[in-house]
Amino acid sequence: MATLIAGGTVVTAEGTLAADVLIEGEKIAALLSRDNGAAARSGLESVQEITRSVYGTASPAFEVIDATDKYVIPGGIDAHTHMEMPFGGTFSVDTFETGTKAAAWGGTTTIIDFAVQPKGTSLLAALDKWHEKADGNCAIDYGFHMIVSDVNDGTLKEMDACIAAGISSFKMFMAYPGVFYSTDGEILRAMQQASQSGATIMMHAENGIAIDQLVAQAIAAGRTDPVQHGLTRPPELEGEATSRAITLAKVADCPLYIVHLSAANALTAVAAARDAGQNVFAETCPQYLYLTLDDLARPDFEGAKFVASPPLRTPDHAAALWRGLRTNDLAVVSTDHCPFCFKEQKELGRGDFSKIPNGIPGVEHRMDLLHQGVVAGEITLERWVETCSTTPARMFGLYPRKGVIAPGADADIVIYDPAATQTISVATHHMNVDYSAYEGMQITGKVAATISRGQVVVSDGEFRGSAGHGVFQSRDLNQYLI
Ligand code: URP
Ligand code: ZN
Ligand code: ZN
Repeated sequence: MATLIAGGTVVTAEGTLAADVLIEGEKIAALLSRDNGAAARSGLESVQEITRSVYGTASPAFEVIDATDKYVIPGGIDAHTHMEMPFGGTFSVDTFETGTKAAAWGGTTTIIDFAVQPKGTSLLAALDKWHEKADGNCAIDYGFHMIVSDVNDGTLKEMDACIAAGISSFKMFMAYPGVFYSTDGEILRAMQQASQSGATIMMHAENGIAIDQLVAQAIAAGRTDPVQHGLTRPPELEGEATSRAITLAKVADCPLYIVHLSAANALTAVAAARDAGQNVFAETCPQYLYLTLDDLARPDFEGAKFVASPPLRTPDHAAALWRGLRTNDLAVVSTDHCPFCFKEQKELGRGDFSKIPNGIPGVEHRMDLLHQGVVAGEITLERWVETCSTTPARMFGLYPRKGVIAPGADADIVIYDPAATQTISVATHHMNVDYSAYEGMQITGKVAATISRGQVVVSDGEFRGSAGHGVFQSRDLNQYLI
């Protein structure tokens, strides 16, 4: 049966228009403007006329979704999540099922999660493992990046096999020595390999070797509280690592994407590289726009809820990040959703902040938090859609199947009520984690309905989807390369 989303304001990266959206099966069939001189033709009253114009007299049965006074936007694409991730001696607590359901509640219709290659294993084995975890369990569509933690002749060769299997981006770490860390030489080799195929290297850019020294000094001096996590990872060491990654990528002639950028120092380096014409891109995350070092300093070990790497920064960094989103030096907003419960998981680090599992939950609230940026005048409506959907689709080879409302695209659509209000809380969120990093935050705007490949998965405060509806998305190369 066809579905018509009637009466809404379609918002895309290019602009807004009063239009109805016709869905047939899993795809968008047509965009029907209501701006053609017939101001009276609006909302549900225009439905018969519109369908006659598309189908002639033999119009089929169709369902109508009333989107009057609401935005109709391409479904969100969260290009950075960690479901069921082994990390910090434990596992992130959202499964692919719980995490993708929570994502759908918040207007995200595609996630790109990170398959993890533990040292001593192969990339393809890691990919198989992530397929095992995700396949048949996701409520929305999903793809994978590959975390490369063991660079050797074998894994370098496997990168091409990964690309053939739809994994066109590889994350490496300048942080976490002994876990995911790679040396500059290893990074250069992987970048040279990626350069041959056009794959993107994603970089966790913090100087982990220097940070480990600062961490050891803090612990030895008895400074063990969560705020020390932030103080031992200064913005200069993110700026330095970002510059170094950019230099290595330049030498290797490889596309580079800086993940979870948090510091103005790093943004300056990205902007300079982009001005010089290098294929360098960056994302930031809502936690770096809204939360600060003060949250890490909350008393009674509460700061542990905010431990992630890079760490939360002072408010001047957040101001620079909003500016970067406006100038496109920050092209994407992802969540880096990596949820660990406060009880028993974050608590592993009582008395030693370096043992607190790193990660902040957020997959459910990215669209709302960035819409709040629209409300506050930080970004435009179009930029909201661009950074949260259209650009991630292009950056990670999903466009024009995803990230756009246009005929032929997947019918991944969110109907967003800009006038609704909500308060973020653990009491109402759907993520499988026992706290909210944004507890009590008042938001203007709320998802009214989420549609994934033509199927309504969330509507009127009810989850109507199913685990297993989401399918794996094989991805092409980055579409922004110059
Ligand atoms: O603290 C974080 N960011 N945890 C997830 C792993 C990563 O580095 O992205
Ligand atoms: Zn990282
Ligand atoms: Zn991450």
